[in-house]
Amino acid sequence: MDKCHNHRVLCIEDDEGVQSLITMRLEREGYQVDGSRSFQDGLKRAKEHPYSIILIDYHLPDGEGIDFLKQLHGADDERCFVMLTGMGSEEIIISAFHNGADYYLDKDSELKFLDLLPSVLMQCIEKIDLVREKKRFVEELQTKMDEAVRDNEKKDNFLTTMTHELKTPLYTITGYCECLSEEVYGPLTEKQKQVLAQMQKAAMFLNTVVSDLITMKMLERDKVKLEKKSFCLKETVQFCLDMVRDKAQDKGISIKLEYQLDPEFKLFADPDKMTQVLINLISNAIKYSEKGTVLVRVGQSDFLDIMVQDEGIGIDKENQKKIFEPYIQLPSIKGKRGEGSGLGLAITKRLIELHGGEIALESRLNEGTKIYVRLPVKTNQCVNC
Ligand SMILES: Nc1ncnc2c1ncn2[C@@H]1O[C@H](COP(=O)(O)OP(=O)(O)O)[C@@H](O)[C@H]1O
Ligand SMILES: [Mg+2]
Repeated sequence: MDKCHNHRVLCIEDDEGVQSLITMRLEREGYQVDGSRSFQDGLKRAKEHPYSIILIDYHLPDGEGIDFLKQLHGADDERCFVMLTGMGSEEIIISAFHNGADYYLDKDSELKFLDLLPSVLMQCIEKIDLVREKKRFVEELQTKMDEAVRDNEKKDNFLTTMTHELKTPLYTITGYCECLSEEVYGPLTEKQKQVLAQMQKAAMFLNTVVSDLITMKMLERDKVKLEKKSFCLKETVQFCLDMVRDKAQDKGISIKLEYQLDPEFKLFADPDKMTQVLINLISNAIKYSEKGTVLVRVGQSDFLDIMVQDEGIGIDKENQKKIFEPYIQLPSIKGKRGEGSGLGLAITKRLIELHGGEIALESRLNEGTKIYVRLPVKTNQCVNC
């Protein structure tokens, strides 16, 4: 009974007798009922007042109940429509439901439908309550999502500021380390040189992690712009190999280059980004190997193909899909998490894609990994270096 008080009912029925019977029956149940005798008047009232339940006659002198539904259905899903039919054929019922009626009642001559009215209206109320609950739930969810997005943005901005802040002291540390190693402040003992080398290594590592974080954030915000120009690819590949040679030597890993292009070939791309890509891939090949050879092949096909192959720990099928996502690091050699940020491959993939290229992987656990990079560049367009 209590529930009824919150719901206003509009009954649009041209038969005065039927209408007063319906009104009386519903008022007895506690509903507040307004009556209307025509299509146009009913439509006007339905638009002006927040009726939650509308009983509408299938046939009215100035319009059809179905057209009424067509005009109002969908405008407010917290409203229920009950179609009143006098000749409830299956066709009419289907058409009523199709056009948005929630229930129908057949105005039988013995007026049994009056006894059904309360339970039909109760079902209407339950339906409206459900819709309202769903709306409340969606609104709550939306508020929580908005909060989460705002939180995430705050953390993201904090991370971006912090990483930039870290860069300045890092420059100071690496700068002074360099001065010390060049013995600008006086000669160093062997022990001091050893310690300084360790400090430089640590600072370089920190610098890579911070730079990776900055690059990743910029890539996520579409802020990375390529600065393309022609450069000698072979020289760049060799520069990258020189950068990682010490690390490979320390681990007893040999590095082999198969350069199948014209040595004079010039690539039109962003040289710094391509250097970053190559160093990332070759460093990974060394980092995730304990033995064997790292092979870098720069090949010729319709496109520019670069392959970096290692005989390292490999990646199992399940994890192969994940490793191009940011912040993913697999438990690597001897179950330990590898040194790094887990951003190298994510950055590499995005940089390759910015160049219009693709990256793919082939790997077998405990056997090794091949990473393929393909750039949409004609390799036969050779310009002198
Ligand atoms: N050549 C490789 N062999 C085996 N595992 C690799 C190789 N390259 C990458 N991985 C795996 O993919 C993960 C993500 O690589 P990457 O994004 O470069 O991050 P990081 O090297 O900083 O861990 C690595 O942590 C490692 O588990
Ligand atoms: Mg890496």
